[in-house]
Amino acid sequence: MSVLDYNELTIEHFQNPRNVGVVKDGNGYGKIGEPGCGDICEITVRIENSIIEDIKFRVYGCAGAIATSSVVTEITMGKNFEFALDLTDDDVVDYLGGLPEGKKHCSLLAIKALHQAIYDYLLNKGLESAGAANTKGQYNQLAKQTLQEILQKSKQN
Ligand code: FES
Repeated sequence: MSVLDYNELTIEHFQNPRNVGVVKDGNGYGKIGEPGCGDICEITVRIENSIIEDIKFRVYGCAGAIATSSVVTEITMGKNFEFALDLTDDDVVDYLGGLPEGKKHCSLLAIKALHQAIYDYLLNKGLESAGAANTKGQYNQLAKQTLQEILQKSKQN
């Protein structure tokens, strides 16, 4: 696979990726690895009043993984987190105007890391409002219970 197999927009995002780094004062963190190729994508977000105020990524991976991660941050910056949760890897591929067939899984890496960062934010938010949970067992139990409640509540607001 050479860089020439990618379209112009994908190459542009690969060469000039947007929002690289780690969000300072972030409140959501996601990190996903792709066992097949060994690539890793990390996304941090800062969400205030349901809006993604800041989002950044770091990737160890191929041109496709870098371009799709860049695009995911561009599409979701300033948007409601529910919009971001509804995004699919197909949306990312469409936004880029297509990816070579063997590279479509790269977009899934960024989307999964994004969704994980939002779930992390939601879980942390639930734990804050529910009070201290000082063991991992309590954390996990509380996390499962509160995720649905938080999502439900955010839909009503
Ligand atoms: S080849 Fe692994 S994410 Fe692109």
